Amino acid sequence: MPGTQVQQERTRPQERAAAQVMPPVDDLVIVLDFGAQYSQLIARRIRELRVYSLILPFDIRLEDLLALKPKGIILSGGPASVYEDNAPRCDPALFGTGVPTLGICYGMQFMAHVLGGETGPAVRKEFGRTRLFVDEPERDGRLFRGLERRLICWMSHGDTVHRLPAGFETLAHSDHTPHAAVADPARRLFGLQFHPEVSHTPWGAEVLRNFVYNVCGCAPSWTMASFVEQAAGEIAAEVDGGRAICALSGGVDSSAAAALVFRAIGDRLTCVFVDHGLLRLGEAERVVGVFRDHFGMPLVHVDARARFLDRLRGVADPEHKRTLIGQEFITVFAEEAERLGRPEFLVQGTLYPDVIESGTRTAARIKTHHNVGGLPAVMPFRLIEPFRTLFKDEVRVVARTLGLPDELVGRHPFPGPGLAIRVLGDVTEERLAVLRQADAIVTGEIRRAGLSRDIWQAFAVLLPVQSVGVAGDARTYGNVVAVRAVTSEDGMTADWARLPADLLETISNRITGEVKGVSRVVYDISSKPPATIEWE
Ligand code: XMP
Repeated sequence: MPGTQVQQERTRPQERAAAQVMPPVDDLVIVLDFGAQYSQLIARRIRELRVYSLILPFDIRLEDLLALKPKGIILSGGPASVYEDNAPRCDPALFGTGVPTLGICYGMQFMAHVLGGETGPAVRKEFGRTRLFVDEPERDGRLFRGLERRLICWMSHGDTVHRLPAGFETLAHSDHTPHAAVADPARRLFGLQFHPEVSHTPWGAEVLRNFVYNVCGCAPSWTMASFVEQAAGEIAAEVDGGRAICALSGGVDSSAAAALVFRAIGDRLTCVFVDHGLLRLGEAERVVGVFRDHFGMPLVHVDARARFLDRLRGVADPEHKRTLIGQEFITVFAEEAERLGRPEFLVQGTLYPDVIESGTRTAARIKTHHNVGGLPAVMPFRLIEPFRTLFKDEVRVVARTLGLPDELVGRHPFPGPGLAIRVLGDVTEERLAVLRQADAIVTGEIRRAGLSRDIWQAFAVLLPVQSVGVAGDARTYGNVVAVRAVTSEDGMTADWARLPADLLETISNRITGEVKGVSRVVYDISSKPPATIEWE
């Protein structure tokens, strides 16, 4: 439940936020994160089993952990070795609580280590596809119930458990790992040296299913629709007659967060949409239309175009642009919050990848995505971040459940600094107008070709150079527009999209034919890395 200011100071931000947004579910499986690449994947697999799951730091206090009443706990893998000085440790008293606990890779090694077993470097390290032989008697079937006796699993470990603690037995082995799966049934402790969460372990989801359903006794009752209902109830209780504001960008995350909180507290939520003049063609009207007309939400539409352009005049350096836009956004937002009588709560559409990218210790800090992260201390908001445990595609499902229009749900990401980082060099009203028109052609044609969903992001960039052309019989010296379209899973790496040549031709012809002053169109064929998705 939401804390008072006093409670907020007692616990660390990430735990606090987890407790704040915990939907009141009956069945919860917690993943303790020991620094694995795959912690998010584990939580996701559990949610795919329709059981709610969230990730918490490995050293959360045991009483805070148990207060969440988990039906099961999974200890993730991690890069450390248990015998290193600063190896991450959870409270070993966890293993005596009777809460079913599954250690994966490092999690299993840690469990064995603190319970009196022996863990050390593996004689033969195993990486990648590995044969797994199930030793668990079929009649006992816990983790391997219903599975073949010979399986394929995916290993990635340098250490291994050489000797099991008292009470443990081996459930499976591989060619070079005698204890590849282990259990202490009496204490309801389990361990896997392999990674059941990755797709390269073909029956991994079944192993997790057995743990979650059979060992933990969870029921598959959690859905995104129930998440919406439960989260709305929780938010209503949390706000408790108070008021909230939401910095609405019009992207799917902040829009879905606004819609959810609106469902919870109605018009005690006010959305603040700051038009900084760096939006795409028709964007401000679309966002305002959807929220005011479609949802009937109180919305403050701040026309800050002139002041942003003013700040940006003569600024060509990308980092300088970003900083100025960030600062100006904060100033405008602070003014509006003040005008609205300082609501107590601030709603944000923070996602799990935002949390993890911010680092686990500072994860609950406000991200500067919508430039509210640096709000002055005189505006002490309490945060509502209903999606901080979800992934973007999960939020898209929530958004659909909340009735957000398809066009909004499927929107590509759009950077906070907007078109200012796509008009390379000086940002002027004239150059923004050229880019807006070109961008509308790029995105419109890709949509018309039915390719929007296959692409992470597509947009136009106005380059700060001119090039020679010929129109009719006359020489021209016009602008150059670059078209960028990329495919990506998460925006961290990306590849240039192989758009059909006919489509590129249509885009090029339309831009040079319809956008005044543009005589050349180029297609960006760089991947990330070494390039980034945006040009600035
Ligand atoms: P880059 O250019 O770093 O972008 O490859 C990765 C993804 O992040 C978006 N992006 C931003 N989003 N504020 C945002 O909210 C920003 O300042 C920002 N810069 C980049 C970018 O559009 C891409 O999807």
